[in-house]
Amino acid sequence: MTHPEKPTTDVLELFYTKKLVKVCAPMVRYSKLQFRNLVSQYCDLTFTPMILADSFCKSNKARSNEFTTNLIDTPVITQFAANTVHDFVGASYMVAPYCDGVDLNCGCPQRWARDMNLGCQMLKDPQKIFELVRECRNRIAKPFTISVKTRIQQDDRESVKVCQALEKCGVSFMTIHARTPDNNSGSIKEESLKLIVDSVNVPVIGNGGVVSLDGCYDLQEKTGVKGVMVANALLSNPLLFAGSKSTSLECVQEWLDICYNSTLTLETYDETVCRGTIPERPPNLTFQCFHHHLVFMLDKVFTRRQKKIFNNLTCFKDALEFLDNTFGLRPQLFTREQFMNSVPLQPQYEGREWVYKELKPFEDSKMHVKDFIEYDYEESKGKLFMDKCKELEGDSGCDWTEMFFEKD
Ligand SMILES: Cc1cc2nc3c(=O)[nH]c(=O)nc-3n(C[C@H](O)[C@H](O)[C@H](O)COP(=O)(O)O)c2cc1C
Repeated sequence: MTHPEKPTTDVLELFYTKKLVKVCAPMVRYSKLQFRNLVSQYCDLTFTPMILADSFCKSNKARSNEFTTNLIDTPVITQFAANTVHDFVGASYMVAPYCDGVDLNCGCPQRWARDMNLGCQMLKDPQKIFELVRECRNRIAKPFTISVKTRIQQDDRESVKVCQALEKCGVSFMTIHARTPDNNSGSIKEESLKLIVDSVNVPVIGNGGVVSLDGCYDLQEKTGVKGVMVANALLSNPLLFAGSKSTSLECVQEWLDICYNSTLTLETYDETVCRGTIPERPPNLTFQCFHHHLVFMLDKVFTRRQKKIFNNLTCFKDALEFLDNTFGLRPQLFTREQFMNSVPLQPQYEGREWVYKELKPFEDSKMHVKDFIEYDYEESKGKLFMDKCKELEGDSGCDWTEMFFEKD
């Protein structure tokens, strides 16, 4: 079942050996391999961004775009958005040798997800969720975990009913974002979270609004959660789980090193020309991913003027030059051992599609290749990044007129 080279971790064991399991949230665009490698030094469990299981099953391109991993990328949970057994179980079976568990997204509140009966829309028909979890558990052996990330509902009794039923279906653990689908910010409902924790026997990870390590312990004390998951605050401070109050320049240096080395191959690692530079279209890394993380990490470090320039850069060369001139930071080559551990693996999915094919109903097999859901997150800049840019709007010298498209 597992990839011969890739080490695995028993995720459930973490919940019984750690006092508090610190979790990096699934984040579309952001919780990609390089970011997971950065934060996993300080946290216990990481999630990939949400991947559309439908595309993952049908398209080689989707698989290589959406999922990358390396030897040190463990423990990692692959999160899928799915609403059919063949998509969820098929995708999970394909990715299983390369991760430690899969998670079903039942919390995404975005309009496009609701329109496709994905994410939090699944809560309208919980029987579907139970079926997906049950079938996946039947097909993939433990210790591989099957989990669900969801939100609380208006009526606590409904939330408890769903969570208890999930437990009966064999879910390994669950993550509760303690806000309702219509409430994206503001305080979380700690009492509802505690009620869920007290009503199930499987470990519960609490999520929502936590901005510091003290905040993690505080949420655990108030609700009894086994783990705490953080998203937004981890983007601006990847050292949060280490107890740090803000991003240090050492952390920025680490980000540069991880990104730079991830673009090298075994051959280019040994070349000495162009040392410390990143070509404009490197393998395994987009400028958007590299740059957005720096924008978030350096938000409190840069002056307003520096932000206005840096946030508007569009190529590796300019960004690297800016960081060198401003802080004297330049990407450094990993030692050979570090490098070998960080090289992205080439997952082999051949021979693992049979579960998907076996489960797929006959009428679905008539679909054309183009019918699967194609969602390219790199096409848009993302709301979070554009919000940062908007904060600086109105000042002269920057052109913020570029239009962007966020599916919501
Ligand atoms: C940029 C971004 C992308 C996100 N993508 C996902 C995702 O792919 N899957 C998911 O379940 N939640 C996603 N979320 C929601 C977070 O995982 C988390 O539940 C939410 O942000 C609340 O946690 P926080 O208050 O610590 O940010 C995303 C959040 C952000 C900010």
